[in-house]
This record gives sequence, structure tokens and C-alpha cells, in this order.
Amino acid sequence: MVTIAPSILSANLWEFGKQIEQMMTLGVDTFHIDVMDRHFVPNLGYSQEIVKVLKKNSTAICDVHLMVEHPEAMIMDFINAGADYLTIHAESTVHPYRALQMIQEQGVKVGLALNPGTSLASVKELLPLVDRLLIMTVNPGFGGQSFLESQLAKIAEAKALREEFGYTYDIEVDGGINDKTASSCIKAGAEVLVSGSYLFHHSNWQEALLQLQE
Ligand code: DX5
Ligand code: ZN
Repeated sequence: MVTIAPSILSANLWEFGKQIEQMMTLGVDTFHIDVMDRHFVPNLGYSQEIVKVLKKNSTAICDVHLMVEHPEAMIMDFINAGADYLTIHAESTVHPYRALQMIQEQGVKVGLALNPGTSLASVKELLPLVDRLLIMTVNPGFGGQSFLESQLAKIAEAKALREEFGYTYDIEVDGGINDKTASSCIKAGAEVLVSGSYLFHHSNWQEALLQLQE
């Protein structure tokens, strides 16, 4: 069974609390939180405060995706706020190994994200540390972009590498996930699907969640 992690980037901020509660009554337990610094990606969004709000008012599992330069400087802020999964980009620091260790030492699940142009070969040394491998299926920074088919091979390769070397990460995909692209991601090996615009803008969330899972 795959996990659908709604990306709150596409939530309606006016109705934020209500939307979270409604998703949870439909069986959602994990929310994907995008953090952007306008340097690593050309957009700005969300801080640790939103994680605090979610942890204080719900039982949500917070899957935090840091799209920021120097993620080391923010790791403790998000851990103290209650992040359950903390994902940094391999491209965002010259010391990704150290940053992943910092997360691991705090007992928080370690996430590593790869831009579409980053190969698995280039992060091989990091993979033993990783609990969740996030394969970006768009260029990071914005919701509502088109899925990059070219990333399907990377998903399959991540699965094959896990089998070959006994890595323990789960495979997450993020960007352009909808009723059509979800099934090819699942077939390739994805286990956690982030969905922003498709899910939040759908007129029937229950139906959309089912379609994503099939
Ligand atoms: C994009 C973000 C995604 C975004 C996905 O850089 O990392 O989490 O919210 O949005 P959709 O599902 O609309 O592509
Ligand atoms: Zn994301």
C-alpha cells in the first residue's frame, strides 16, 4: 500500500486547519511540507512554524522537504518544531553526509532529495544513511508543473540498488503526481507519493486519493 502525502503548498491557507482535518478523516496521516528560501529554488515558502502548528493541533506525520541552501543551519529548528521526516537536497550543501548525520543523531527520519539532474551514482556514499529517498519528478520550487517521465528510470534504479545493497530507504516521488503519473511511479517502485495541486484542487478528495493509490 502506497502512502499519499498531500503537499500543503497547494492547501487553501484561509481554510488550512479545516483542510488538514478533512484529509485526516479520509485516512491521510502524512503531510508534505515544502520549505523554500528563494536561493536554492526561486520561490519562498513555509517555516518551522507550520510544523509546530500541525504537531500541536493534530496527529499528522510531518514530512519536511527543505529546498534551501545551507540546510545545516535549519535542521535543529525543524527538529525542535517536531519534524518526523527531514529531507535535505544532495545539491544544497557541500557536506550532505554531515547534514544527514545531524538529522540521524537527533533520532529523526533521514531524507535525501535528488533534483532531476542528479544521478543516484553521485550520491551512492550517502544512501546507507537514508530512510527516505525523495526523487524529484519536476524541477523543485513550484506546484502545478508537469511530471518528468525521464525520472521513472531513476525510481526503478533506486529500487534495484536497495535490493542489491540492502539499503532501507523508502522511495518517495514529488512533482506532477496525478491519476495518470501515479501508477507509472508505483510500477517503477515508488512507495510515497507527494501530491499537491492534483489532490487539493480535485472536487472529490476521497476519489482523488483512491485514484492516486491505484
Ligand atoms: C515542488 C514541491 C512539491 C509541490 C508538488 O518543488 O516540492 O512538493 O508541492 O506540487 P504538485 O503536486 O502540484 O506538482
Ligand atoms: Zn516537496
